[in-house]
Amino acid sequence: ADYDLIVRNAKIVNDDRQIEGDIAVKDGVIAAIEPGIKGKGRREIDAAGKFVLPGGIDSHAHIEQKSGFGIMCADDFYSGTVSAAFGGTTTVIPFAAQHRGMSLRQVVKDYHEAATPKAVIDYAFHLIVTDPTPQALGQDLPALIRDGYTSFKIYMTYDAMKVSDYQMLDILALARKEGALVMVHAENHDMIQWLAHHLIEQGHGAPKFHAIAHARVAEAEATNRAISLARLVDAPMLIVHVSEIEAIETIRQAQKKGLKIYGETCPQYIALTADDMDKPGVQGAMWCCSPPPRDSAAQEAVWEGLKDGTFQTFSSDHAPYQFNEGGKIPKGDKTTFKEMANGVPGIEIRLPMLFSEGVQKGRITMQQFVALTSTNHARLYGLYPRKGTIAVGSDADLAIWDADKDVTIRWKDLHDNVGYTPYEGREIKGWPTVVVSRGRIVVEDGKLNAERGSGQFLPCASPDSSKPLGQAAPELQAMSRFGAKPLF
Ligand code: URP
Ligand code: ZN
Ligand code: ZN
Ligand code: ZN
Repeated sequence: ADYDLIVRNAKIVNDDRQIEGDIAVKDGVIAAIEPGIKGKGRREIDAAGKFVLPGGIDSHAHIEQKSGFGIMCADDFYSGTVSAAFGGTTTVIPFAAQHRGMSLRQVVKDYHEAATPKAVIDYAFHLIVTDPTPQALGQDLPALIRDGYTSFKIYMTYDAMKVSDYQMLDILALARKEGALVMVHAENHDMIQWLAHHLIEQGHGAPKFHAIAHARVAEAEATNRAISLARLVDAPMLIVHVSEIEAIETIRQAQKKGLKIYGETCPQYIALTADDMDKPGVQGAMWCCSPPPRDSAAQEAVWEGLKDGTFQTFSSDHAPYQFNEGGKIPKGDKTTFKEMANGVPGIEIRLPMLFSEGVQKGRITMQQFVALTSTNHARLYGLYPRKGTIAVGSDADLAIWDADKDVTIRWKDLHDNVGYTPYEGREIKGWPTVVVSRGRIVVEDGKLNAERGSGQFLPCASPDSSKPLGQAAPELQAMSRFGAKPLF
């Protein structure tokens, strides 16, 4: 055969256009794209009537990671990546999470040891930085950036994870200098703690109070503060899992000023509301994540942000915990919202949910769908054009998409290890039928066909998204005029 694989008669969708034609694959890479490719493939797939999309890239997923409280995720690198693949995702960027006192070098080593034998699709890592010591800032992070870990997540809340504004400035200045993109979990810690304290004191520990304690203004304030810190030192920044109206507007206004501020949102913020947590006993914990889902007005604002480009990425924030004492509810039915493991699963439903609610309902275009689920992730995190596009020379990562497939979401049909889905019973239209990772057919007709450990680690380039504008706050620019040594 001339090629390893040919996908014929496809409606090939990239973030900028759609064309009709065939895709030929050789040695894991796209070798040709044109109508009626001559020659034979060792395997040929007729994709007539179907869309062929660049495989999804999920740039926010917690896999085989311990939470701030030390609770282990339900998905390891096998179940997590298998579940991703069944939903049309061919690249994940989970986190290698530093907890205080740990060496970042050791953390990265540990996550590689976990992922290498298990991942079935390709992966990169963001670093969660909780302990920006002189060793971390001076040596470990610069070296890790050069080795392909070019994005960090930092937290403004959670006792065990949060960094101070001072530490954020240290991390932002370092990222600016060395070429990494900083992702921020933006919620005002003290507002949440204060509200939670008073709620718990009154005996209101039920899951629905999580959404009260994590008030909207806590997210709005922290988003504004994070962006202000970024402005001071002229460092680009991405605000993760944005859920509410004012935070979206703050990001939009920053972008209008020309600042390199990016935004991410997730399925839970278009498909859930705070009312989902209002269930008897601790049941509502199944829908608990931070920030919490809000209301239908917030959902509409999230759609506006997806439509007008305020959001670059639609990620799962897959944070899988089983509904038991080893997971979501460490103290059983006595668990208060302060003790629940935060996060919802979503790695498998991410693309179908956005397609069904977005493209099918006319809210976003096919091109926007591809940008939000794949291309923009690759661009923002230094994986483009190897990932995120159907182009000659790019990895053959494809999702062959049946837009007419009706699916009722049932956890028993998903492939994660969580035991429930917050979307049980939802009707979805559109699902991938064949998923290809570097030319290998990893999913076909509901069956997995991939070896454990066949996914590859992807070192990320220092992305353009991380390049500073060259205009720090005026006071910092004026320093040298007063004889002070410039800070960068
Ligand atoms: O509730 C959430 N999102 N938990 C996962 C950790 C995080 O903050 O992303
Ligand atoms: Zn977060
Ligand atoms: Zn997360
Ligand atoms: Zn909480």
